[in-house]
Amino acid sequence: MELVEVTRKLHFCAGHRYWRSDWSAEKNKAVFGACANENGHGHNYTLEVTVAGEVDPGTGMVINLSELDRIVARKVIERVDHRNLNTDIPELTGKIPTTEVLAGFVWQQLDGAVPGATLTRVRVCESDDLWAECSRAAGS
Ligand code: NI
Repeated sequence: MELVEVTRKLHFCAGHRYWRSDWSAEKNKAVFGACANENGHGHNYTLEVTVAGEVDPGTGMVINLSELDRIVARKVIERVDHRNLNTDIPELTGKIPTTEVLAGFVWQQLDGAVPGATLTRVRVCESDDLWAECSRAAGS
């Protein structure tokens, strides 16, 4: 039976700052620009979670969306929403909380956590013109 991918889009808000304390202020400004500004700033993020699986002929579903929502809420949204990504997420401590790093965090949180389906893509969008993804081929 064919594999079908289904994508759920969710939203969260979070703040961050790009700053390395082992670099000079000048170097931080040069590499990170306005993202290094002292008091940080926030984004309205969009998160897209894609899972693949066979369609259950009894329900017409790859996964029950309420179950997927519950998993993503518990493992990701409740942890990052209205949080400071630099200070509030132990897995991100000491990292620069870029969109790329956030995508990797979400992937680590969700990979293997969705019963009956395979996580194939996580896309974290910081804005309409910037996003980062982690992915694997469906069926692999
Ligand atoms: Ni930013």
